[in-house]
Amino acid sequence: MKAYSNQNVLVTGGLGFIGSNLALRLAELGAQVTVIDPCIPGCGGNPANLHGSPFPIHVVPCDIGAPDLPTALLRDADVVFNLAGEVSHMASIQEPERDLAINTVAQLRFLQRLAHHHPGVRVVFAGTRQVYGVPDYLPVDESHPIHPVDFNGVHKYAATMYHHMLSNSGQLDACVLRLTNVYGPHLSLHTPGQGVLAAFLRKLSLGERLEILGDGRQLRDPVYVDDVVDAFLLAGAAATLPSRSYNIGGPQALELRQIAILASELAGVDAPVYREFSAEQKSIDIGSYWADFSRIQRELGWSPATPFAAGIVKSLDHYRIRMAAHA
Ligand SMILES: NC(=O)c1ccc[n+]([C@@H]2O[C@H](COP(=O)([O-])OP(=O)(O)OC[C@H]3O[C@@H](n4cnc5c(N)ncnc54)[C@H](O)[C@@H]3O)[C@@H](O)[C@H]2O)c1
Repeated sequence: MKAYSNQNVLVTGGLGFIGSNLALRLAELGAQVTVIDPCIPGCGGNPANLHGSPFPIHVVPCDIGAPDLPTALLRDADVVFNLAGEVSHMASIQEPERDLAINTVAQLRFLQRLAHHHPGVRVVFAGTRQVYGVPDYLPVDESHPIHPVDFNGVHKYAATMYHHMLSNSGQLDACVLRLTNVYGPHLSLHTPGQGVLAAFLRKLSLGERLEILGDGRQLRDPVYVDDVVDAFLLAGAAATLPSRSYNIGGPQALELRQIAILASELAGVDAPVYREFSAEQKSIDIGSYWADFSRIQRELGWSPATPFAAGIVKSLDHYRIRMAAHA
């Protein structure tokens, strides 16, 4: 990780959940960090995510697709971590064109300008497991067919392909991390559509019982945000990238009901209750998911280090301290 000392690093979406954790770690490692993020309404960004950083982080409140994004930022970057995006699958069903604008059009404009002003620069993009849709088999590897079930998956896949296409033609040196459900500090608990773990953490932080949709037998492999940050750092610093796509998964595949029961126990909250999916929720449910992350383990030496129970305890501590501070 010495590779980042005094490097100019751009983090798009760096006021958001994963981006802010990454920006803080990069600053700690001695990088000169610039965050590009206008805090798009409805996304999970929050300027407070970078407050109190002991190291300077420069924030440019600009859309990555805006024509007035300063060219010098692109030209001077040694590495670009591209995490700008909208995560909500439900929002993409309700407002597909908004999702298209954020996840695809803005990315296209940004990547074209980046390739023009800084050809060959390393880019690490936050992709999503949602591109696989309902898995044909488990665990899901990178060769799994692509058949997303919502607009968010389609739009994120288009952005994924921009990174691949521009790399195949030598204009960028990009790779895409296809993330499973990420959880941890800075996840925006009060923004709708941030996923099941945000919903769980919000209720547990308030001492409320969890609700499980369906029978709770769907598998998930939650990954703690510090481990995801490690994956971005490794991909950003690798001398060469043997592959362009890497699955990022958690250390264990757990049933949602196991996740809910364990998290409730750790939070000291009564056992979860079960309820039916709404028709809209059912339409974007992918059933079970579990990532095969052996490619990034083999090629870049990454694996998730944080067991689920330890990650939940750290997350609950974070949110409870914040809530107590605002009480
Ligand atoms: N959180 C997860 O579990 C998860 C899972 C799979 C993929 N991802 C991907 O990881 C990325 C980051 O997710 P997150 O959970 O940190 O989301 P987040 O909503 O917390 O943060 C995203 C940030 O991107 C910013 N942003 C959006 N569009 C922008 C634009 N055009 N220009 C500049 N900034 C823009 C938003 O303002 C926000 O601060 C997203 O692209 C998402 O698709 C996240």
